[in-house]
Amino acid sequence: MASNSNGSSANGFKLPEIKFTKLFINGRFSDAISGNTLETRDPRTGNVITSVAAGDKEDVNLAVKAAREAFDHGKWPRMSGYERGRIMTRFADLIEQNVDELAALESLDAGKLFFLTKIVDIKASADALRYFAGAADKVHGETVKIAGEFQGYTLREPIGVVGHIIPWNFPSIMFFSKVSPALAAGCTMVVKPAEQTPLTALFYAHLAKQAGIPDGVLNVVTGFGSTAGAAIASHMDVDKVSFTGSTAVGRLIMEAAARSNLKAVSLELGGKSPLIIFDDADVDMAVDIARTATFFNKGEVCMAGSRVYVQEGIYDQFVKKIAESMKNWKVGDPFDPHVHQGPQVDKKQYEKVLEYIEHGNREGATLLTGGKPCSEQGYYIEPTIFVDVKEDMLIAQDEIFGPVMSLMKFKTIEEAIEKANNTKYGLAAGIVSKDLNIANRMSRSIRAGTIWINCYLVLDTDCPFGGYKMSGFGKDNSMHALEKYFQTKTVVTPIYNSPWL
Ligand code: NAI
Ligand code: MG
Repeated sequence: MASNSNGSSANGFKLPEIKFTKLFINGRFSDAISGNTLETRDPRTGNVITSVAAGDKEDVNLAVKAAREAFDHGKWPRMSGYERGRIMTRFADLIEQNVDELAALESLDAGKLFFLTKIVDIKASADALRYFAGAADKVHGETVKIAGEFQGYTLREPIGVVGHIIPWNFPSIMFFSKVSPALAAGCTMVVKPAEQTPLTALFYAHLAKQAGIPDGVLNVVTGFGSTAGAAIASHMDVDKVSFTGSTAVGRLIMEAAARSNLKAVSLELGGKSPLIIFDDADVDMAVDIARTATFFNKGEVCMAGSRVYVQEGIYDQFVKKIAESMKNWKVGDPFDPHVHQGPQVDKKQYEKVLEYIEHGNREGATLLTGGKPCSEQGYYIEPTIFVDVKEDMLIAQDEIFGPVMSLMKFKTIEEAIEKANNTKYGLAAGIVSKDLNIANRMSRSIRAGTIWINCYLVLDTDCPFGGYKMSGFGKDNSMHALEKYFQTKTVVTPIYNSPWL
C-alpha cells in the first residue's frame, strides 16, 4: 500500500524535495541556537522524512525580539491597510503558483489526501489571505460625542506581537486562519507549527519574504510544545496568543498567560460534536453526511461529528445502509486519487485511537465496521463504527480524533436536544431533517459555535468559527477574527468656544 518517503508513492507520484528545514527569524533561515533538531515522519511508513531545527526558549526570545522591533519601529504596522493588503495578495498568488509542491509536502508530512489538500487546504489558505487582504483597508474607529466640552474618537490599533501555536491536522489552513487576520491588522508574529508537521509553515515563511513582507513581521519557530510553545505562551513581550489544539494544552496556555504578562488569549480546542438524524431524513443523504462528519481527514478534525444520533423510526435502516456503504470506503496511500482515508498523523495518535477502540469493546459497544489497524507499516486504521453505545461510555464522551463513529438512538426532539448538549464541548453540531421547525428548534437549542443543517463541514472564510463551553473562545475566520488582533484606544480632546455645545 504505502511506499518509502524518499521514493515515489504507490501511484507513481513524484514526491517533493524538502527545501526548508531551519527556523525563520528576522527574514533569515537559521539553525536552532542549541543545534538541536527534531525528526518529522511520513505517516504512510513511519520513516523519517527529514530533520528540522528544534527551537527552544532562546530561539523564541530571538524571534520575539525581531517581531517586537518590527512592531515598535518597523513599516508593517505603520503602512496603510491598502499597502498591507497588496503584499498579502502577492503572498496568496505565490501560494497558488506552488500549489502542487505545497499540497505534496502537506500530504507527505500529515498523511492528508493529496488531491483534496490541493483543492481544499491550499486553496483555503490563499483564500484566507485574500479575504483579510481585502479587509485590511476597511477598518475604522468611531467618533464619540462626549457630554460637555469634549470630543472623543477611537483608534483601532494592532494588538502587537502575536504568538500563533498551531496543530497538525490542518497545518496550512490553521497557519493562515491565524496569520492572515493578524497580518491585516498590522501585527507582527511568531508562529509555532506542530512538531508533527513543520514543513509547509517553513515554505510559507519563504513565500512571505518573496511577497515582500518585511523581515521580523512573520517568524516561524519549529519545535516542541513543551519547550518552544511554552516559551511563547509565557513570554513577557508577546501581547497575544492564538492557539488551536488540545483542551489540556489550552489550559496550560491560559495559565502561562496569567502568570506572565496577562497577554490576551484565544483558544480553539476540539470537541465531540453530535450529528442528529431525524425520521423524516433522506437516509442515503444522511449516510453520506455521517460519513463526511466522522471520517473526513481520517477523523482528525476538531469539529468531527462522531456522536451520531438516529431517530428510532429509521435507525435500523440507517445502520444497514451505512454498514453497506463503508464497503466502498478505501483506506490507503494519500497520494492515490481513489483513496478516501490516509494514515493517522503519527504513532501517538494511531495508538490513542486504537486504545479508544479497545475501550469501546471492553465497555460493551458492538463493532458494526472496522476496529483494527489495516496495514503492515504506517498508521492506517479501518473506518470504525460502534453500535449499542451508551451516553456515558468513554467513546461517546471523549474526543477520539480518529475514524471512529458512535451510533446511538433517540425517540423525541426533547431527548435529542438533551443528548446533543450532554458534553463538555460545544464546537459544532449537525442536523438532518426536512422539517424546518425541527431544524430551527435544534439550531437554537444546541450550545455550539457552528450548526450545519443537511450538510456537514461546510466552512468559509466569511463564516465565524469557534467554540462554546470547553471548545474554547475567540473566533477564527470572518471579520470576528480580525477583531482579535486589534485593540481600541479612546482619544479625548477639548473643544473651545463651540456654538454647538
Ligand atoms: P497539542 O495540544 O499538544 O498540540 C497542539 C499544539 O500545541 C502543537 O503546536 C504543540 O507543539 C503545542 N503545545 C503542546 N504543548 C504545549 C505547551 N505546553 N505550551 C504551548 N504549546 C504547546 O495536541 P496533540 O498532543 O498533538 O494532540 C492531542 C489531542 O488534542 C488530539 O488527539 C486531539 O484530541 C486534540 N487536538 C485538537 C485539535 C483541534 O483542531 N482543536 C488539533 C490537534 C489536536
Ligand atoms: Mg510528519
